[in-house]
Amino acid sequence: MTTTLITGANKGLGHETARRLIAAGHTVYLGSRDADRGRRAAEQLGARPVQLDVTDDASVTAAARAIEADGGLDVLVNNAGIEQRLPDGGIIGAAELTADAIREVFDTNVFGMVRVTHAFLPLLQKSAAPVVVNVSSGLASLARMSDPADLASGYPGVAYPASKTTVNMLTVQYAKAFPGMRINAVEPGYTATDLNDHSGHQTVEEGAEIIVRMALVGPDGPTGGYFDVSGTLPW
Ligand SMILES: NC(=O)c1ccc[n+]([C@@H]2O[C@H](COP(=O)([O-])OP(=O)(O)OC[C@H]3O[C@@H](n4cnc5c(N)ncnc54)[C@H](OP(=O)(O)O)[C@@H]3O)[C@@H](O)[C@H]2O)c1
Repeated sequence: MTTTLITGANKGLGHETARRLIAAGHTVYLGSRDADRGRRAAEQLGARPVQLDVTDDASVTAAARAIEADGGLDVLVNNAGIEQRLPDGGIIGAAELTADAIREVFDTNVFGMVRVTHAFLPLLQKSAAPVVVNVSSGLASLARMSDPADLASGYPGVAYPASKTTVNMLTVQYAKAFPGMRINAVEPGYTATDLNDHSGHQTVEEGAEIIVRMALVGPDGPTGGYFDVSGTLPW
């Protein structure tokens, strides 16, 4: 029996990933920073709710203790993430970017991911086939963002892509440090969720595909990579 934790799974890509992994036979802990929203989502899917705010040490520690007491963890999906917008819905570009604004994004997308990974590493190290999936973004790719011919390079925001580029580096370094684990970064593709006011052109079913695929990877699968549904992406 494989036990999986997905952060930020009360809606969007995390929720769809939970649905698919339950269908694949995983026992899924559905992480949600809001306990009520998490409980409702978990009931709907047949998941186990766990209150987990990735920016809060006490919340993450309590979640790790509870899941350890229940028997441990095999797969961690670091999915919780935010993209910051101006009050009018516009993207915060380089001219408007402040230290506080980028800190807020890093607090969830980067420090949150590290906080959760650090708390669950001891559980994953006890698993026979530990797997970590870090939900990154195509906007994380320095190669794509610096290529004027690539559509992604037209995205004017700074904090969000910078946070996801950091997620990619963390993925590479964690993968080298823990060769017994399969640790990969994935780009779901532009998907209609609350994150982008449902402007994405993919459905959550399409977006979750690569997250699910990398969560199901076996001990002989890749590690330290960056993938979308079509294959390896350039860093
Ligand atoms: N949608 C896309 O086009 C796209 C493309 C590439 C990558 N991604 C990435 O995919 C992941 C999922 O995003 P999504 O599109 O599914 O967006 P979403 O529908 O807005 O879901 C984001 C999830 O993260 C949770 N979250 C935010 N801050 C949190 C915190 N401090 N602690 C715990 N959970 C927190 C949200 O919880 P609340 O409901 O409480 O806010 C929600 O469950 C993110 O990492 C995002 O960067 C998305």
